[in-house]
Amino acid sequence: MKLFRLLMKNGPIGKHIDYYSRFSPSPLSMKQFLDFGSENACERTSFVFLRQELPVRLANIMKEINLLPDNLLKTPSVRLVQSWYVQSLQDILEFKDKNADDDKVTYDFTDAVIKIRNRHNDVIPTMAQGVVEYKEAYGTDPVTSQNVQYFLDRFYMSRISIRMLINQHTLLFGGKIRVNPAHPKQIGGIDPHCRVAEVVKDAYENARRLCDLYYMNSPELILEEFNVKEKGKPITVVYVPSHLYHMVFELFKNAMRATMELYGDALEYPAVHVRIALGTEDLTVKVSDRGGGVPLRKIDRLFTYTYSTAPRPRMETTRATPLAGYGYGLPISRLYARYFQGDLKLYSLEGYGTDAVIYIRALSTESIERLPVYNKSAWRHYKTMHEADDWCVPSKEPKDMTTFRSF
Ligand SMILES: Nc1ncnc2c1ncn2[C@@H]1O[C@H](COP(=O)(O)OP(=O)(O)O)[C@@H](O)[C@H]1O
Ligand SMILES: [Mg+2]
Repeated sequence: MKLFRLLMKNGPIGKHIDYYSRFSPSPLSMKQFLDFGSENACERTSFVFLRQELPVRLANIMKEINLLPDNLLKTPSVRLVQSWYVQSLQDILEFKDKNADDDKVTYDFTDAVIKIRNRHNDVIPTMAQGVVEYKEAYGTDPVTSQNVQYFLDRFYMSRISIRMLINQHTLLFGGKIRVNPAHPKQIGGIDPHCRVAEVVKDAYENARRLCDLYYMNSPELILEEFNVKEKGKPITVVYVPSHLYHMVFELFKNAMRATMELYGDALEYPAVHVRIALGTEDLTVKVSDRGGGVPLRKIDRLFTYTYSTAPRPRMETTRATPLAGYGYGLPISRLYARYFQGDLKLYSLEGYGTDAVIYIRALSTESIERLPVYNKSAWRHYKTMHEADDWCVPSKEPKDMTTFRSF
């Protein structure tokens, strides 16, 4: 273990991490992603860009992994994740000085990034496992919890972005034909005319199937569209359908579970109501349920990793997708929304129900990747002790007026 850390710091890989982490990642806009997939874009351009950009994104986040508390770094799970990152960085650096005009080189590169994508498939549950092991062994203090939350948001966002780059490259250049046979109109993973309602219906059907499995019944869906620009026309957006699907699927599972838990054995359940609106700036998807809501005091907590009110599903049984229980649904969905400069928020009326709202940029020129960068302010987040709260803690009993101080 000591040796591993020594190598990470001072060995050749440590030098590479230092070197590449000095570059800032380059956020791409939706338009740039589309241009890469247009007629005149070529595999060579994409290769030259990625062999620099992937090491930059990897190194930036590897620097932050190194700042995690020692005892968390020491867990077998986090060490495993770290070793994947080291291996993947090395794999890409193999292509540093290779001839970009050689077809064999670009072919091998595509192969290498596919291997990297597969290697990192289980990063989220493995990292989550590390955090659980750490919390069980050392307990939690508020400062560490805040740092871990800060780190995980950035780490998972970085992962989303790296997978987006790899997916675009492999979908566009991995096969002989550029067209994705399953989705011929898509440019890689991006649909220039993504029909939001279709994705919503698809996610509803799949969430409902899970809900039926667990509760023998499920709430209906009411779907409304408000297209201010072109009245009556289906709302479309330039977006990654799989990201949108991920978000609404998670929101449906939550809404259905809350509804079913509240209504117990009732024969009818209040429907889940989805409204999709397109304005000039925002495309908004609101998922409303009548599942009893959450008190305001707890809303922020729902976005912390590992917070769940559902019993934790057993690892061995994960083959049948559970409806809830890992507590990763909301925080990861919010990252997907934020990745292209949108957001995800929860508004609740305790005693009645919850509105979960996804905000997406309506204009593709505004949809630009939001990426973490390793710099002094990021470093400071891990190193500075958080100071005492600067708001009074309300006391339960009114204080004796004689202690009232006047300034
Ligand atoms: N629509 C909702 N109504 C009531 N509670 C909700 C709703 N959405 C989320 N929650 C609460 O937030 C918690 C975290 O949600 P999530 O991140 O999706 O994780 P999980 O569903 O795995 O528990 C849930 O366990 C639940 O207690
Ligand atoms: Mg959930």
